[in-house]
Amino acid sequence: MDPKTIACLLDSYPTPLYVFEERILRERLQYLRARLPEEVRLCFAVKANPFLGQFLVGSVDRFEICSPGEMYICEKQKLPAEQFVLSGLYKDEGSMRYAFEHGLCRGILTVESVHQFELLRRLAKEYTQPVRLLPRLTSGNQFGLTEEELLNILVQIRDDPSRQKLLTLAGIQFFSGTQKTSLKKHRRELELLDTLLDRIRAELAMEIPSLEYGPGFPVAYFDAESFDEDAYLEEFSSLLRQMRNHLPIVLELGRSIAASCGSLLTQVVDQKSNHSGNYAILDSGIHQLAYYGQFMAMKHPVFELWPLRQSARSDQDPEWNLCGALCTVNDLIVKKLPLPDLKIGDVLIFKNTGAYSMTEGISLFLSRDLPTVVWLKEDGTVRMLRCAEPTWTLNGGA
Ligand SMILES: Cc1ncc(COP(=O)(O)O)c(C=O)c1O
Repeated sequence: MDPKTIACLLDSYPTPLYVFEERILRERLQYLRARLPEEVRLCFAVKANPFLGQFLVGSVDRFEICSPGEMYICEKQKLPAEQFVLSGLYKDEGSMRYAFEHGLCRGILTVESVHQFELLRRLAKEYTQPVRLLPRLTSGNQFGLTEEELLNILVQIRDDPSRQKLLTLAGIQFFSGTQKTSLKKHRRELELLDTLLDRIRAELAMEIPSLEYGPGFPVAYFDAESFDEDAYLEEFSSLLRQMRNHLPIVLELGRSIAASCGSLLTQVVDQKSNHSGNYAILDSGIHQLAYYGQFMAMKHPVFELWPLRQSARSDQDPEWNLCGALCTVNDLIVKKLPLPDLKIGDVLIFKNTGAYSMTEGISLFLSRDLPTVVWLKEDGTVRMLRCAEPTWTLNGGA
């Protein structure tokens, strides 16, 4: 953001303020597409930032939707239902019925358990609506199916006795975790999937139409982190190309698409010093800033200080502990951050907050307002996506 835009935003909106930038989001997608094999399709994991789906239509191929709430958001934002991947390990019957009745099952539905398969099959039959299923292979946790369960379900889809052929197979899904820096792990997982695909062909005589893989691409959040993303993506792409089974690949991505387009603007509202250091109190806090890999506030996230200073920041500047406004000593955002001439009213602009920060926090604790959210368009105009929203009404004050 250029200084004029920052000044204008701070004049027009209260802090804390999330700003999501269209230009950065577009450039990020171009970057990823240019570095991944051309035939790879992208699926945006809506959980990373539910505000962004509406701005990604036409730029990604699918939307992974992991809860009824996310489904209603995507419906409200008028995302194309053919591109929905209705996912999630708890698909309650009520919301699945809603999906069937409102044409939201036109895309793909993941299968996370045998029980879930039975539910989807029963509803498909009751509504006489064909469904495209995406069984998920577990990576050894509460998500997905064992290999045996998955094979069993494939057989049932293949031998679907219904005259209307209600069940079809969209592919197989696999996701084992986020912020995956290890290419060795990707190699192991892709090998595991290759072996599974071989087994399915050999034992069931079935070809799997596509693989939906969540690679958990990492984001560099902290100052000292060095991460050669070009080299990482090149190596990852070559691992994909080396797979024995050549089938359409869809990458489910959240953090890597969304993080860089977001900033959180938060103001210094108080300052104090005591025997243990200098403290700056911010109007935001750990409930609104979630940096994956932050450890006891020790790491320094990428940020800017506003108003801009004449000279560059240096390690000689006084060190500040940046604390949030929650009533807990745990609300420490950054410890011992050197900052020049810090004053009440200054604003910190925390970068890379476009994914998970606005949804992962303990937002109801202390009944503080949810921050304002705006979309900064490429032409410089701003669209309000959410006003600062009180939470005290949700916590007994209604
Ligand atoms: C099934 C699934 N796919 C994709 C993602 C997105 O992960 P990331 O934000 O690391 O890209 C998640 C995140 O939890 C997930 O559960």
